[in-house]
Amino acid sequence: MTVGTSVVSVMPEQVDLVAVPVSEGRWFPPGAPPLDAALLEAHGIKGSRGDRLWIPAPVGSPDLLAVGVGPMSELSAETFRRLGAETVQASRSARRVAVYLGQLLQSPGEGSSKSAGEMSPADRSRAVIEGALLAAYSFDSHRSRAAEGRSSVEQLVVVGDGAADLSDVAPTAERLAAAVSLARDLVNEPPSSMTPRRFAAVAQEVASQARLEVEVWDDQRIASEGLGGLRGVGSGSHEPPRLVRAHYRPASPRASVALVGKGITFDSGGLSLKTAGGMETMKTDMGGAAAVLAIMSVLADMDIPVEVVGYMALAENMPGGAAIKPGDVLRIRNGKTIEVLNTDAEGRLVLSDALSLAAEQRPDAIVDLATLTGACVMALGREIAGAMGNSDSLLSQVAASSGRTGERTWPLPLPDEYKSHIESEIADMKNIGAPGQAGALSAALLLAEFVDDLPWVHLDIAGPARSYDDKGYVRKGGTGFGVRLLVDFLAHFEKPSSGSSDT
Ligand code: BES
Ligand code: MN
Ligand code: ZN
Repeated sequence: MTVGTSVVSVMPEQVDLVAVPVSEGRWFPPGAPPLDAALLEAHGIKGSRGDRLWIPAPVGSPDLLAVGVGPMSELSAETFRRLGAETVQASRSARRVAVYLGQLLQSPGEGSSKSAGEMSPADRSRAVIEGALLAAYSFDSHRSRAAEGRSSVEQLVVVGDGAADLSDVAPTAERLAAAVSLARDLVNEPPSSMTPRRFAAVAQEVASQARLEVEVWDDQRIASEGLGGLRGVGSGSHEPPRLVRAHYRPASPRASVALVGKGITFDSGGLSLKTAGGMETMKTDMGGAAAVLAIMSVLADMDIPVEVVGYMALAENMPGGAAIKPGDVLRIRNGKTIEVLNTDAEGRLVLSDALSLAAEQRPDAIVDLATLTGACVMALGREIAGAMGNSDSLLSQVAASSGRTGERTWPLPLPDEYKSHIESEIADMKNIGAPGQAGALSAALLLAEFVDDLPWVHLDIAGPARSYDDKGYVRKGGTGFGVRLLVDFLAHFEKPSSGSSDT
């Protein structure tokens, strides 16, 4: 269900529920509907995170919801996203819901300049709406009846002083949330329906609505263009591979960025077959490509001042009769060769072609998103992506975005010393590293061979692309990880001073 949102300065008459943030020390925004201090006290509501109290009202006035948000000194974007999410989750059958921010939406007064990291009223209201919309997401197209616990919210208003200047906020937040939902939908769709061809068709539809140029290469074109990695991985399946290139051209771009997404619509492992358990969630293996398409879908609407080309490398990794075999050698677009020793290390094979294509255009930066290695999940768990690359400037721009959007990333090194891990007996390199050692790094070291000297960041999202629990605004299933992160990154993008760095 779509939720209509707005930011207003006067509480609308017709609301079913008003949520009020209560900060530690039981501070709440003055002007809120009366929150009885004694009642909060009696229920042990101190304002700590997780405190929550539903206060029923007489018929005709809205119920109140007190939501603990932690100490005032620690209010961050994450606080406001959680407030939005908790409001939606607690809303029971309420359809028209308000979140009262009062003075929290007032700009800092004249002379008091905004310190680093401090949030503007726009940031705060946007975070509430994003958190609420992302929490209200559900994927129901394959259910015969509505799932229990689905959000009832149809209207969400953020109410606060100073809201008059914030009319752009709700439309922007809605667009971003819709993009994240698109990425989640693409991942959640069953793999036999979300094939490379189907993904490409969706990309064409999205592109026509989002003012993007789009090009789709079929299997013949993939072969004639020399994409030996993508072709090789796709050859074990009846479903042919596709390469999608989407192009966003603003009127006078400040810079250019290429985005590359791993789009394995199902990863069985190929002849190096996965276990039954290992395959259960492998429809998620196109989470990188889904994020790239979703990011591209909002660039024009959000007036992002950077030219962006998105490459999505789409294939099904299956063990059919024509599948690549351990020992085979593939020639990648840029001429380098890879010996395939494990057909389950297929992501790097399709990405090397897409990265080569991206590098040919000499963008100012390349960022790839890939559910690339189980080793990265071992290292950082399911909520943090590994960030690797050759440019400190680019890595710190991604880290800054990560801090703002709450999509966590953590740097991992790209050590020259470990290049020996991917040396092949007969080809330029092999597609697996040293057994049991630094699997996320050897995968990234291989990718580095395909970006020339261009500033590049690789995000290994094998962990955070999928969630195994409902947790606030992150829902079980595809998460859309990377969408808000890289839209923020593109909005703030500065050309990196120089390419390489020591990592
Ligand atoms: N798609 C997987 C990585 C993955 C694993 C993503 C778990 C999400 C959760 C990737 O294609 C893969 O199979 N990688 C292998 C590489 C190995 C064979 C060198 C892995 O990580 O086991
Ligand atoms: Mn694999
Ligand atoms: Zn994979």
